[in-house]
Amino acid sequence: MMRDEIALIVVLLLFSGCIQPEGQQEVTEGVVSEEWRPDGVVGENEYSHTLKLYSPARQGYTGGTMTASWKIDDEHLYMALNGSTPGWLAIGFEPAEWMKDADMVLGFVEGNARVLDEYSTGNYGPHIDDTALGGTDDIMEHGGRSYGTHTVVEFRRKLDTGDRFDKVLRPGKNVSIIWAMSDSMDPSVKHNIAYGEGVIYLGRLENSAQRVSQNLTRNDFEWMLFIWKEEKAARDLYKTLYEMTGMAIFLDLVRSEQSHMDQIGALMKRYGIETPVLERGVFDNQTLQRIHDDLLSKISSDHDALRAAANFEEISIIDLERAMGETSNGEILDVYSGLLAGSRKHLRSYVRALKDRGIEYAPVYLSAGEYEEFVGGA
Ligand code: HEM
Repeated sequence: MMRDEIALIVVLLLFSGCIQPEGQQEVTEGVVSEEWRPDGVVGENEYSHTLKLYSPARQGYTGGTMTASWKIDDEHLYMALNGSTPGWLAIGFEPAEWMKDADMVLGFVEGNARVLDEYSTGNYGPHIDDTALGGTDDIMEHGGRSYGTHTVVEFRRKLDTGDRFDKVLRPGKNVSIIWAMSDSMDPSVKHNIAYGEGVIYLGRLENSAQRVSQNLTRNDFEWMLFIWKEEKAARDLYKTLYEMTGMAIFLDLVRSEQSHMDQIGALMKRYGIETPVLERGVFDNQTLQRIHDDLLSKISSDHDALRAAANFEEISIIDLERAMGETSNGEILDVYSGLLAGSRKHLRSYVRALKDRGIEYAPVYLSAGEYEEFVGGA
């Protein structure tokens, strides 16, 4: 496979970008030696994995951090959410798009801790108790504690609850998540501190030798590295577009692309592959560099910026589809399909933003049929 072909011949895209702390996620792993207790105190050795999520202040949001800690056994997920809020904090598993179809757990501490088993039926809610939708409440144990400026909730649920409003969580898999926090304890009040997306790996540390279930082919290795760089290209590009235009959509998608880099990066790490250290706007792949530079050189309006970003998403979609066509490795396919869903979502967002400005976007690289299937009616 010729990597330089992959990014397509295209010539659009812009970039720039140094890694911004705002979108980055820190994951730590450790051996569990403490008994799990849902008491609102996260012991240093109570969970095997910890993911620190951060979202900066922006219009309508004060900004904040939330730390998700978790471990699994054969049957259960044990989780703690520790957020910089006196109000509710929530995690959503495997949304189909934005909030839609996310299996949510929302907690707050008002005297006692409350932890709700919910499901979001739409892109921007509503999120409803599973029981009100005809499902079941599958939070088996919970607890929490308010510390004034921050709140901790802990809960246990089955990995496979049997409820259609809960996602089946599979050991050894990456699970895409969304998260949000509000300073209110009323779960019907929208988030105003922070929101974001991420990925958690449902691994068991004692099984680390089995964490990579298949050997890597040379082709898989090259594709993973390329896809990571392409996600970086998107992140760098949107960061620069944000600086050029001040449009919030780019800031949102910088964070999303960072999350995509983290997802593929986490998989690479499990295969012992280092992610390259590359400065913002700098690529060791000439095609990506050219696309990035060419796209940036053509921006003279907000419309140009949105079009360039949409062009780049089209390229990403085509590359991801090619990468998926060239591997039979299930765990790599899982990650690619999450990234593909993300790129289609991003393309729809850019097309919608152009439409809001009275501009009809026409696909440049995708076939009319595929474009219509995933973006039609955006
Ligand atoms: C209290 C009920 C909620 C309401 C009314 C609500 C509403 C909305 C709205 C209107 C947006 C669009 C962005 C904005 O206006 O700032 C949004 C985005 C988002 N929400 Fe919620 N939300 C709620 C709860 C939640 C919960 C519990 C989660 C996480 C578990 C969540 C995760 C997200 C995420 C990740 C986005 C970003 C999507 C994007 O970038 O377009 N939301 N929400």
